[in-house]
Amino acid sequence: LASTEVDIGAVQTGMAVTVMWRGKPVFVRNRTADEIKQARDVPLNELKDPATDQSRVQRDNWLIVVGVCTHLGCVPLGQKPTDMRGDYHGWFCPCHGSHYDTAGRIRKGPAPANLAVPTYTFLTDTKIRVG
Ligand code: FES
Repeated sequence: LASTEVDIGAVQTGMAVTVMWRGKPVFVRNRTADEIKQARDVPLNELKDPATDQSRVQRDNWLIVVGVCTHLGCVPLGQKPTDMRGDYHGWFCPCHGSHYDTAGRIRKGPAPANLAVPTYTFLTDTKIRVG
């Protein structure tokens, strides 16, 4: 499918869903206020692949990223609150130990780049279209 519609109405604050888009997982996370603050408090010069949190989201709480590690393509852990999320509380790739933050930015480990942000559109407050 060129695009995928996702109903996000049931995704509570602090929770996430994974949907498939063009054969890849896409992570949709409804971030807590604390997660947003953590992402925004980081100085850009501490980032390997510098990008502001604001440049990676359309709405503050909704982070939408392709769930494929930019190192060698494993699917990082962190979608469930009980998953390992790494040192920066976002996602952790167990294949070779890449740590992503709550904006999906690479913070530690071999991955060279942030988790990609796909093209997406809010169709309503509770529905997005990815692609
Ligand atoms: Fe994720 Fe290597 S594939 S760290």
